[in-house]
Amino acid sequence: AHHFAIVPAAGSGSRMGTERPKQYLPLLGRPLIHHTLAVLCGSPHIDKVFVVLSIDDREWSRHDWSALGEKLVPLFCGGATRADSVLGGLRAIGAEVAQSDWILVHDAARPCLAAWHIDKLVRELAHEKVGGLLAVPVADTLKRADDYHRVAATVPRDSLWQAQTPQMFRYIMLRRALENASQVTDEASAMEAAGLSPRLVQGDTTNLKVTYPLDLHLAEWILQNREG
Ligand code: CTP
Ligand code: MG
Repeated sequence: AHHFAIVPAAGSGSRMGTERPKQYLPLLGRPLIHHTLAVLCGSPHIDKVFVVLSIDDREWSRHDWSALGEKLVPLFCGGATRADSVLGGLRAIGAEVAQSDWILVHDAARPCLAAWHIDKLVRELAHEKVGGLLAVPVADTLKRADDYHRVAATVPRDSLWQAQTPQMFRYIMLRRALENASQVTDEASAMEAAGLSPRLVQGDTTNLKVTYPLDLHLAEWILQNREG
């Protein structure tokens, strides 16, 4: 089976609070999403990288993506939610992929994805039927709150993981799961709603999602200290 990446990049970045969507904010001299796409396009595991952009995207065409090579394909079919954007991408590539091909869905807003993250995910899931996702064990003690913000319970954290991306599933299973799911924030939840059990592959916290302004500084630090 082949491996394809779908990169949802049609969000507005409301929590970042900037005018420009966060995927286009400058990070070490290039758009944030350029870092994300460079790692995916550079991976020998991945055959093509489909970027899902908003139909109203005004930024994509202003930048030069030629350094990323031939694997990159922009699709202007973003939806109202992340799940809609991913499903739009899956529908758009239907004629190009086989039903059993692997799809790696990766957030545009995770620019610190490393080659080893992809290697490990692909290697550990190669013989899985369902697929799975990168994740990290929860580090903090977790409290469930009541309506008055008083602690109702301490949730044992030993079996809790934080979901990341890439999330890797077979094309047809993922498409069906997303078509039947409502209100999911990641692909794994759609698979779970279909009664399937995705496998967790341990990554690390450097693969952070840029959500708030501080995250952009953290991402810059991570990339700078990785590239030496
Ligand atoms: N995304 C998308 N289509 C949407 C919403 C989100 O493709 N309708 C993408 C974002 O561009 C991002 C990824 O999904 O790469 C993760 O979503 P998130 O971090 O929530 O980004 P935004 O929705 O843009 O940010 P916010 O929730 O703060 O508005
Ligand atoms: Mg969002």
